[in-house]
Amino acid sequence: MNRREFNNKSLATLASIPFLSSLEAQVSMMPARPIHSSGELLPIVGFGSSKLVSLINELGAERMVEVLSALQSLGGKLIDTWPRNPHNDGVFGEVIARPDFNTNLFITTKIDRMGRENGIVQFDETMRLYQRDQIDLAQIFSLTDLYTHWPTLIDLKEQGRARYIGVTVSQYELYEDLIRFLDSHQPDFIQVNYSISERMAENEIIPLAYDKGISIIVNRPFMNGYYFSALADTDLPDWAQAFGCHTWAEFSLKYILANPMITSVLTETSNPDHMLENAGAAIGDMPDDQQRAQMASYIDSLI
Ligand SMILES: NC(=O)c1ccc[n+]([C@@H]2O[C@H](COP(=O)([O-])OP(=O)(O)OC[C@H]3O[C@@H](n4cnc5c(N)ncnc54)[C@H](OP(=O)(O)O)[C@@H]3O)[C@@H](O)[C@H]2O)c1
Repeated sequence: MNRREFNNKSLATLASIPFLSSLEAQVSMMPARPIHSSGELLPIVGFGSSKLVSLINELGAERMVEVLSALQSLGGKLIDTWPRNPHNDGVFGEVIARPDFNTNLFITTKIDRMGRENGIVQFDETMRLYQRDQIDLAQIFSLTDLYTHWPTLIDLKEQGRARYIGVTVSQYELYEDLIRFLDSHQPDFIQVNYSISERMAENEIIPLAYDKGISIIVNRPFMNGYYFSALADTDLPDWAQAFGCHTWAEFSLKYILANPMITSVLTETSNPDHMLENAGAAIGDMPDDQQRAQMASYIDSLI
C-alpha cells in the first residue's frame, strides 16, 4: 500500500469511528509546539518505536509503514527510537529511508552503553543502519554514563551530526540525578515519564526544564500498557465528553497535552488504528485546569 492509499484508508477508518467522525470534517492535522532552542515546530504527538522495532520480524516492515503513515496522516513526525539489534534496526532504517518518510520525519536516537568509545561506536552504527548522516535528536538513555557521553553529544551537535541533544529518564528514581544535571547543563530536550497516572514530573522537573528553555518530550503515557489493563473494567466517565474525550487513551493524552509546558508526547504502539487514535487526541478540545484536577483525582481512585 502506498502512502496515498494508506491515507485514504486512514481517513476512512477515522470516519468509521463514531467519536472521530466529526474530526475529519473539522481538522486533519495535529497542532505543533516550538522547540525552545530553535523555534522549529514539533507536532505534539509522536511515536515510540521500541516495541514495533523489536517485533519487526514477526509483524513485518509493512506494519511499521502503516503506523508511520497513520501518524503522518494527522501531521505527526516525531519518531523516538532506541537501538535494538543490527537486523531490526536495519529494517527500520530501510523504512524511514523510504521517500515518503525520509525528509519528513523527526528521528531521535539514544546512546545506552557505558564508556566513551562504546557510545561513539553505537551512535555511528545507528546512523549507518538508519541511513542518515544527521539525526534530529541524539539522547543519552536513562542518564547512562551521563557525564561521559554528554561531551560526545556536544561534539555531535557541533559537527552537525545531531541537530539537537538531550537526555532521557522514565522512572522516578532518576529524577534527582536529572535535576542535578540540569543545574549546570543545557540540553535542547529532556524526555521524562509523565501521564495522568504518573504525575510526579509536574512537581519539579517539568517547570524547571520549561523555565530553563528546555523542550520536554513525554514517555510512558500509558505506563507501557499497564494503564489500559488497570482500567479494563472501568467505563470512561461521561464528563470526559465535555473536553472531547471518548477513550481512555485520549484521557491520558489530553491530560498530558493540556499542560502547555509539554512539547510532545510519545505513544508506543504496534497498531496503526491505535496510532490514529493517539494522534487524534492532539486535535480538538483539551481539559481546563479544573477538569484536569477532576481527572487526576478520578484516576487516583482507580489506579
Ligand atoms: N528511558 C527511555 O528513554 C525510555 C523509557 C521508556 C519509554 N521511552 C519512550 O517512550 C515510548 C512510549 O512509552 P512506553 O514505552 O512506556 O509505552 P506507552 O506508550 O506508555 O504504552 C505502550 C502500550 O500501550 C498500548 N497502546 C498504545 N496506544 C493504545 C491505544 N490507543 N489503545 C490501547 N492500547 C494502546 C500499546 O499496545 P499496542 O501495541 O496494542 O497498541 C503498548 O503496549 C517508548 O516507545 C520509547 O520511545 C523511553
